[in-house]
Amino acid sequence: MKEYVKMTAGELKAEKNELSKIFGEYKNKNLKLDMSRGKPGADQLDISEGILKAVSSNGEAFAGSTDTRNYGGIDGLPDMKKLFSELLEVSPDEIIVGGNSSLNMMFDTVSRAMTHGIMGNTPWSKLPKVKFLCPVPGYDRHFGICQSFGIEMINVPMKNDGPDMDMVEKLVSGDEAVKGIWCVPKYSNPQGITYGDETVRRFARLKAAARDFRIFWDNAYFVHDLTDTPDRLLNILSECRAAGNSDICYIFASTSKITYPGGGVAAMAASVANINAAKEIIKYQTIGPDKINQLRHVRYFKNAEGVRAHMKKHARFIKPKFDTILNALETQVKPLGIAQWVAPNGGYFISLEVMPGCASAVHALLSELGVTMTNAGATYPYGKDPFDSNLRIAPTYLSEDELKTAVDMLCLCVRLAAVNKLLEGE
Ligand SMILES: Cc1ncc(COP(=O)(O)O)c(C=O)c1O
Repeated sequence: MKEYVKMTAGELKAEKNELSKIFGEYKNKNLKLDMSRGKPGADQLDISEGILKAVSSNGEAFAGSTDTRNYGGIDGLPDMKKLFSELLEVSPDEIIVGGNSSLNMMFDTVSRAMTHGIMGNTPWSKLPKVKFLCPVPGYDRHFGICQSFGIEMINVPMKNDGPDMDMVEKLVSGDEAVKGIWCVPKYSNPQGITYGDETVRRFARLKAAARDFRIFWDNAYFVHDLTDTPDRLLNILSECRAAGNSDICYIFASTSKITYPGGGVAAMAASVANINAAKEIIKYQTIGPDKINQLRHVRYFKNAEGVRAHMKKHARFIKPKFDTILNALETQVKPLGIAQWVAPNGGYFISLEVMPGCASAVHALLSELGVTMTNAGATYPYGKDPFDSNLRIAPTYLSEDELKTAVDMLCLCVRLAAVNKLLEGE
């Protein structure tokens, strides 16, 4: 295989003819495959079935003296707080356990800042401008939250050990309108990058111009390792405390991809001052979360070790799927010099950088073949990838066989789009 940029126009045309023939054959198959969202496969959901049986009859719904069927406990069942505190390495009084969705807790946290302000500061909705830094490529739903509140988003490029910290420090210290930054610090969505120790420490030491600036540390993939040599992430809250900056971060996590995305448990962790400030408002919002589901989770897992053992079972389903994608890219695309990616040690995604100006074309070609991918551009604020080069691959939801077909089609479309691009210049 020869690199595409080294091919003559004649060679590119011959390649295009060959690829178009295969494209036509796939098209005739009328397939429908969804590689868009990072959802666990049905086989993964089945391994948590024991959860559904963990609380069944009256007397079993008690957690100590608490009847979980009743109202109360706005910050969650003490045993569930303890479980999250072991997993996140913070103390139970630094945690609020919520409903099933951490995204919901993130939205509510921004919403409270908008309407009530953070710890006595002016509500963001009363300010002329609020800005968030958005490491890119990133998680589309974070950007969606900002967009829904009219918060201006500023792209910050990701490096291989986290966001460009020179840029973060400059913007955070120099502009009072910068109130937040979205971070997925372990196995980031979509690149699978884990922030390095120095990056975490620089976050902890940030000197923000705004007193109500907060790091939104979305640790969605905190236990989602795929290998026996997992990435290690420093504890941001301890680092912030050590830097005399304890109030600067909110941490979020959930069991969505541990048990059920539709029936998991979410948590938020932060300094006691931040937690108390949040509870002061949450108490008007709810008389308590779903403690029965929390009790189920506590009974099923028992402790952090139980969760880690469970995650090994998930890895047995997910790892081969990641390998299928990576092997196909390695053999079908790499020698052509038209795309880049990293092989992550965990998380739910592989981020593919195709030739600049080609991501939308790859997406459109795949749609023609019946393969759904997250829209090109979705990994950037406002859906605008300035290079039109990033695509997010979600390997988990399809069966192994479907995935093999889907990734072959992906490789084909990456090649076809690159050939078309190069021929444009001829
Ligand atoms: C980075 C990140 N945060 C949050 C979520 C959603 O979390 P939850 O199900 O707890 O709302 C996802 C889901 O894909 C995600 O990738």
